[in-house]
Amino acid sequence: MKHERRLHSTWWILWITTHIIFSFIVIFFTPPVVSLHLGPEIFTTTLVANTVNVTVVHIDVERNILYFGAGAEYGGYVGRVVLGVDCGPTPLTFQIVAGVQGKLGSQDGVGSNALFGDVHGMDGTADGKTLYCSDHVNGLIRRITISRAGGGVGATFNVTTIAGSTPGYGDGSGRQALLRPIGVALNPAETALYIGDYGNSAIRRINLSTLLVETVVKIGISLPTFLRVSPDGAFVFFADSGNNRIARVASAPGSTLVNIAGVVSNGQTVVRDGVDGSSARFWEPRGLIFSPDKSILFVGNCFGNVIQAVRMDSGDYATVTIAGNATAGFTQSSASGSRAFMSIPVATFSGIQGLTLWQPPMQPVLSKNPSWVVIAGDFENGAIRCVSGPGLSHPFPPMAFKAQGTVRSVVSGSSLGAISDAYIHPVTGALYTNDGLTMVVRYDLDNRSGEFL
Ligand SMILES: *[C@@H]1O[C@H](CO)[C@@H](O)[C@H](O)[C@H]1NC(C)=O
Ligand SMILES: *[C@@H]1O[C@H](CO)[C@@H](O)[C@H](O)[C@H]1NC(C)=O
Ligand SMILES: *[C@@H]1O[C@H](CO)[C@@H](O)[C@H](O)[C@H]1NC(C)=O
Ligand SMILES: *[C@@H]1O[C@H](CO)[C@@H](O)[C@H](O)[C@H]1NC(C)=O
Ligand SMILES: *[C@@H]1O[C@H](CO)[C@@H](O)[C@H](O)[C@H]1NC(C)=O
Repeated sequence: MKHERRLHSTWWILWITTHIIFSFIVIFFTPPVVSLHLGPEIFTTTLVANTVNVTVVHIDVERNILYFGAGAEYGGYVGRVVLGVDCGPTPLTFQIVAGVQGKLGSQDGVGSNALFGDVHGMDGTADGKTLYCSDHVNGLIRRITISRAGGGVGATFNVTTIAGSTPGYGDGSGRQALLRPIGVALNPAETALYIGDYGNSAIRRINLSTLLVETVVKIGISLPTFLRVSPDGAFVFFADSGNNRIARVASAPGSTLVNIAGVVSNGQTVVRDGVDGSSARFWEPRGLIFSPDKSILFVGNCFGNVIQAVRMDSGDYATVTIAGNATAGFTQSSASGSRAFMSIPVATFSGIQGLTLWQPPMQPVLSKNPSWVVIAGDFENGAIRCVSGPGLSHPFPPMAFKAQGTVRSVVSGSSLGAISDAYIHPVTGALYTNDGLTMVVRYDLDNRSGEFL
């Protein structure tokens, strides 16, 4: 009880301070003497440059290795990067471990003796010794066996085609099956590989012991791309890219499709945040990755050029933009004194494809709190981008805000500019400051009242 009372009075003092500061700024437009807590910054930098059309990113978590797929219609390859301890500021160099950049083909073999159309989807086993890739151009699923976990000097990357022969549609065993794949995702048991079959508008799966390819669902889907299997293996979440929404199916054939966020729309040309999934909008969503605690699903929009976070643990699928401003470009946003939600200038992307997540061995320099970073394949820019900062861990206000029910219209990445230590949440419109969510002030700018939560 004592503890509670003390907290309460701290909040009260902070509330009064906040109120005074904001009245002052709103009325006089004068830079404040900042006494609030740090806002949840998010920064974007370039982790790897000059990849030529990077499509997919995958991290061997145990060994701190980033693999990526690249290429578009003219010969793809698999690249390997040894990750450092932080995202930049100097981009890391990569080596090509399979395929030849710019040399189109479909032959199996070791390293540069193997050729790809492109390498568009990728997932890997936890032991660091096998990668599964989609070759969309050739309609193939390729398996890469790594002679030593994580690769490195002297290690070989042996590429074998396990399914498909020419682009087409048909269930069957191994090379007899026909596909037009983009995304691939292993189930947690690593016994099945799920496929976002873009060209056939279907979710397929391969039984990895029998190599039997089946169709999980092929109704109501349009041009699916990347996908993720839920931790219990029961559901497959996927970017229903042609329909501009995020959807879910049960992992067994014949399952029904459930809409998660966005609405079915073939002509969607905007991205929008939303207080729930049905008010959020995506424009060619592709890359998907769950936060480590699975409370957030990050979504990369290929045409929308933003990365959004979808809240998964609240039942409402509220969606907020965490990087990009919907204009195509190649700008960074790194720490330069700005403490806005997304630091100014807002980073820009050009054709976001796959996403993955990295928990650097050390806390990223740009972050103020321990957190993870989101890694994105930025296709047209030929770059792998790194989105980091404490804001990634909790881009949503606490659920208590939702209970308050005050919702303003969306202001993209809005910050208060001069008031650098607080921000207006783009979805709720609430102003809040945070300190690991223990001290939260909500301030309603419409009626200039505030309260503690
Ligand atoms: C990516 O591929 C497109 C063609 O699909 C090409 O026009 C563009 O220059 C490529 N850019 C990079 C940086 O890879
Ligand atoms: C590569 O894999 C194929 C298929 O499993 C196998 O036949 C071949 O011997 C392997 N090559 C090397 C060099 O390990
Ligand atoms: C793969 O097929 C085998 C043989 O039919 C079956 O026992 C196994 O359960 C299947 N695996 C998956 C993940 O469906
Ligand atoms: C996005 O940011 C870029 C670079 O910072 C800027 O040129 C562009 O006008 C911005 N677009 C929007 C819609 O704000
Ligand atoms: C002003 O904000 C308070 C506190 O959130 C809220 O209860 C009240 O309904 C708001 N009034 C108006 C007119 O919006």
